[in-house]
Amino acid sequence: MQETWATSAGLDLHLEMSGAGLRASLESALREAISSGRLTPGTALPASRALARDLGVARNTVVDAYGQLVAEGWLAARHGSGTWVAERIRPPVPAVVAQPPAVQPLVRYDLRAGVPDLSAFPRTAWLAAARRALARTPAAALGYGDPRGLEPLRVALAGYLSRARGVAVTPERIVVCAGYSQALDLICRALGESGASSVGVEGFGHHAHSRIAAASGLQLSPLDVDEHGVVASALTNEDAVLLTPAHQFPLGVALHSRRRREVVDWAVGTGRLVVEDDYDGEFRYDRQAIGALQSLAPEHVAYAGTASKSLAPGLRLAWLVLPARLVDDVVSAKRAAGMLSSSLDQITLAEFITSGGYDRQVRRVRLAYRQRRDRLVAELARRAPQVHLTGIAAGMHALVTLPPATREQDVIGEAARRGLALEGLSEFRTGTQQRDPALVVGYATPPAHALSTAIARLCATLNVTT
Ligand SMILES: Cc1ncc(COP(=O)(O)O)c(C=O)c1O
Repeated sequence: MQETWATSAGLDLHLEMSGAGLRASLESALREAISSGRLTPGTALPASRALARDLGVARNTVVDAYGQLVAEGWLAARHGSGTWVAERIRPPVPAVVAQPPAVQPLVRYDLRAGVPDLSAFPRTAWLAAARRALARTPAAALGYGDPRGLEPLRVALAGYLSRARGVAVTPERIVVCAGYSQALDLICRALGESGASSVGVEGFGHHAHSRIAAASGLQLSPLDVDEHGVVASALTNEDAVLLTPAHQFPLGVALHSRRRREVVDWAVGTGRLVVEDDYDGEFRYDRQAIGALQSLAPEHVAYAGTASKSLAPGLRLAWLVLPARLVDDVVSAKRAAGMLSSSLDQITLAEFITSGGYDRQVRRVRLAYRQRRDRLVAELARRAPQVHLTGIAAGMHALVTLPPATREQDVIGEAARRGLALEGLSEFRTGTQQRDPALVVGYATPPAHALSTAIARLCATLNVTT
């Protein structure tokens, strides 16, 4: 059997030609490509002259093979429009017929936490930054590059983080990652390599993150959280602890200054590591910004920031500021994982930050989210006063505590019938701690024009269930 690649007309056509006569062999190779689904209905085939040249056969051989397959209904052709795979030929039905998915109520409004307003992504400014950055970037920067991330981005981030978040940072300590998820995975791998076996997590937190820590073999040790953040005095033998100090996810509270001190004292006293997930630190509304915990003990806190809230999760760009002793181990883990950060996006983000675009974007969306938050607070106070709203000083979500007898599932089910997606606090429980029933309401996701309706449906839902 001879394998042939034809690249006529820009189409890569992989044909396995058997030993039979040339025409018969070409026909059966095309039949096989169509019936297996490799050539899908509507795909234009190369012109006969071009395919003949690629295959090294006479043009008539291709013309005859095409003609035969048109006659059999595999191909269609029209004079002047070429030849293409006919519509009525379908790929074979898979042997196992997949079960149709269970019918889910249609989500028209999404008040779950996590995703910012994607329509607020600064497309024009981002494109302009990309153009400027690419124009002056040397070709060498488009290679595999420094596994910590491209230098211009690490320099830009160092300036920004020290200025805006009070992080103690030099570019050498920064490792650019594909989202906090990858950052956390790399840290956990590095910890595991150095013999760590357990990690403290907040008793209510992001499940994806607990799963990442558990997948690297670390034992999870959930710690209670209350209105002052994590109960730091419960920290004992954990090798590290994952925290959201500026805005606890999902309770929305800031870690109390006394607790911040306790956490840092624990880490410094025992030589352990705090992972500070500063996922929405830029979005503080009512009080002075809370600086990064990392500045209190840079050699014991791994600081993590992300562009997922300030720009878009689809960028998959985040950054770690690491204690010196961890840099090499995290870089090795990143190398082993295949690096995973696009150079083009890195140079664009560097330019976006240094040109002031990032600060402008943060200011713009901060104002918009603050207005959204104010609307949520006002509407709930007016139309559903039986619930209690907390965690609203920062970020993009709030905790809506329900009257004690309410079942979260009833509220979520009723909301789903109204096309509204909601999440209950218990979905974020990582340990056994009990709290009053509550909803974790994200107000950033609906596009601006849909927010009023989403909030109105939330209030209507609350009024029939609480
Ligand atoms: C608590 C928390 N940390 C971090 C992130 C950001 O994760 P990533 O950078 O992987 O998108 C999120 C996003 O939803 C989050 O909720």
